[in-house]
Amino acid sequence: MRWLRDSEIDPSPLAGKRVAILGFGNQGRAQALNLHDSGIDVVVGLRGGSGSTIAAEAEGLETALLANAVGSADVVMMLAPDEIHAALYREIEPHLRKGAALGFSHGLSVRFDFIQPRADLDVFLIAPKGPGTALRSLYEQGKGMIGLWAVAQDATGMARDIALAYGRAIGCGRAGLMESSFAEEAEADLFNEQAVVWGAVPEILIAGFDTLVAGGVSPEVAYLECVGELKLIAELIEARGIAGMREAISNTAELGATLGGRRIVDDSVRQRMADVLAEVRAGRFAGQLRAEEENGYPLLEAARAQARQAPIEQVRRRLSPTEDD
Ligand SMILES: NC(=O)c1ccc[n+]([C@@H]2O[C@H](COP(=O)([O-])OP(=O)(O)OC[C@H]3O[C@@H](n4cnc5c(N)ncnc54)[C@H](OP(=O)(O)O)[C@@H]3O)[C@@H](O)[C@H]2O)c1
Repeated sequence: MRWLRDSEIDPSPLAGKRVAILGFGNQGRAQALNLHDSGIDVVVGLRGGSGSTIAAEAEGLETALLANAVGSADVVMMLAPDEIHAALYREIEPHLRKGAALGFSHGLSVRFDFIQPRADLDVFLIAPKGPGTALRSLYEQGKGMIGLWAVAQDATGMARDIALAYGRAIGCGRAGLMESSFAEEAEADLFNEQAVVWGAVPEILIAGFDTLVAGGVSPEVAYLECVGELKLIAELIEARGIAGMREAISNTAELGATLGGRRIVDDSVRQRMADVLAEVRAGRFAGQLRAEEENGYPLLEAARAQARQAPIEQVRRRLSPTEDD
């Protein structure tokens, strides 16, 4: 695997080109501002009546309705939620210039056929590996966020060069861009969301908290143990790796981790992880995501309400209330 950095990436494929960013949410805002600050001609494409128009213009960006933004652009970046990409693409396709480049920051909607891009388009992926807020703040500090790049369709022979120039302009080339594919990026990302960091880790924190409380430990102590130390281990792993993290903690903690970790994450957990990966690859989650949107997000609404009411949240509010509480 080869990491490409700024010095190896030619910025000229974007010179004199106009980029339309569709959506001004987490990634849309960060990418539009980074491109603008890199000297690229950017227009933010928004639906009629969008509340984001004022916000984007207040930050010095040009805005236009979706059709106008797309029709004026050489590169169009799909930065609206994945589950609406099919409808959004249907709406913009008639306005896409012949030979334009269509970009994504997640491989999902192309990998799982939400979209079948027109044959004359270049189709590329620049997937920063982190949230838009961090993509923007790193750029402002003169740093960058690592990213993956890929090409799904190379109609003009320029798709790779446009993708890399785009990745450079949003700051990813400062940290490194690695080649992947739409399938690899989408499948690995969906797997991680379900089975590792975003799905399994919060559930194991809650299970640990519930177990301690059921065993007679005060909720506050249970919270501090099971949730409060997460930031510490994340920082240690980022700075020193998993082996270095183990060496940095006390012998007591290290022996506990050595004996206990494999007992909890045993072969049955690995088997269920393999099941999740197989289901992701078969398109099961992609189908669930589209159904969720079509039905008005019932599962997400219920899960959010339940999470807000959970005992572990009540303890968090007592220990460290935020403005939202
Ligand atoms: N969140 C991240 O940091 C992150 C990280 C890596 C990759 N990605 C990928 O980046 C893409 C964007 O994700 P995101 O989290 O940034 O999205 P997001 O914040 O949820 O996007 C919100 C934006 O999408 C617009 N939008 C919503 N529905 C629309 C519709 N029907 N028509 C037109 N515009 C619509 C909204 O318009 P209004 O302003 O009018 O409401 C808003 O500007 C996705 O492919 C995602 O997988 C995201």
